[in-house]
Amino acid sequence: MSDVKITVIDREGTEHEIMAPTDMSMNLMETIKAYELAEEGTFGICGGMLMCASCQCYKLNDTEVPEMGDEEESLLYSDGVHVKPNSRLSCQIPITLDIEGLKVEIAPEP
Ligand code: FES
Repeated sequence: MSDVKITVIDREGTEHEIMAPTDMSMNLMETIKAYELAEEGTFGICGGMLMCASCQCYKLNDTEVPEMGDEEESLLYSDGVHVKPNSRLSCQIPITLDIEGLKVEIAPEP
């Protein structure tokens, strides 16, 4: 079993339970795009290069995710809109067994 269950609330407020593979070197942004949970061209625009902040999500539960790096923090607070204390850039959250049960909400369109 190498999939983890993640709950994603889309921008319309609909909750989706998705299974994400831990063995494909994917991150949360890529997974959300693969499931088409955000409108094409409005989410994950830079492809995970830490250049756009469009992949912002709000982390809604206590599931441990890797700490925010300096680059993520500076991009989020310089380019991000609708930033909250629980904001993260989903391209910086790798899909690993550690994030089983994670619940996030996609931030409004930038
Ligand atoms: Fe651009 Fe995450 S996809 S910063």
